[in-house]
Amino acid sequence: MTSRLEPSAGVSAQATPLIAPSILSADFAHLARDLDAVSHADWIHVDVMDGHFVPNLSFGLPIAQAVARETQLPLDCHLMIDDPERWAPDYAEFYSVTFHAEAVDDIDAAIALARTLRAAGTRAGISIKPKTPVDEVLAHLEEFDMVLIMSVKPGFGGQKFMPEVLDKVRALRERADQIWGKETDDDSADGRCLIEIDGGISADTIASAAEAGVDVFVAGSAVYQADSPNAAIDELRENARAGYSSAGHGTQNSGGLQD
Ligand code: DX5
Ligand code: ZN
Repeated sequence: MTSRLEPSAGVSAQATPLIAPSILSADFAHLARDLDAVSHADWIHVDVMDGHFVPNLSFGLPIAQAVARETQLPLDCHLMIDDPERWAPDYAEFYSVTFHAEAVDDIDAAIALARTLRAAGTRAGISIKPKTPVDEVLAHLEEFDMVLIMSVKPGFGGQKFMPEVLDKVRALRERADQIWGKETDDDSADGRCLIEIDGGISADTIASAAEAGVDVFVAGSAVYQADSPNAAIDELRENARAGYSSAGHGTQNSGGLQD
């Protein structure tokens, strides 16, 4: 098996479900305030869009660096960009870097980029759009620290959740449990490949994703359109836990912040 990253400095185990608010739905003129407003979150999800890979342009490295200066939480960078081989390594200073499978030539290129990112000291994630099959990634799961399943067409917040992508989550959960075991309660779980879902996650949809076996839940509009973003995060976490219980999943540990 490929060797796994040890938790980075200041980072130790943190239990799933992990909630990652997307700052795409924040007020960019008040980013510091809107980061403070999500202190109950586990990670901060940073959507980088280049106007080519997706029909929207968001922000790039300088803004991600500004966000990192304002929050103690790990940055979960989601690169919706062409040519990730060129740009993704610049983000290796952050906790996790996810690029799109559709933006590289083939699975070999994806594995090569994941290895580059890991060697640079970050966690390597691969993301797939709703219509992209998961089979090739499944066959090489040890090469990645996270698989991000898109549950909307990438590009914009506020879209409707696509439940059909949960079949891919179930397949990933089964394979990950085969490789790393079903449940763990120590830091070694930091070595497992996490399953993340992104798009249309709300208090109503999160339990079904949790039942299917998701570890990390991105939520943009559900958090930032709430009167209290922290209360929305608490509710999402609670509903995800309920989904785990009804499916018989245990809580797992993954990399995260130390107390
Ligand atoms: C969409 C982005 C998402 C988006 C999610 O392309 O990758 O992270 O911000 O927003 P909601 O939660 O509103 O669907
Ligand atoms: Zn995203």
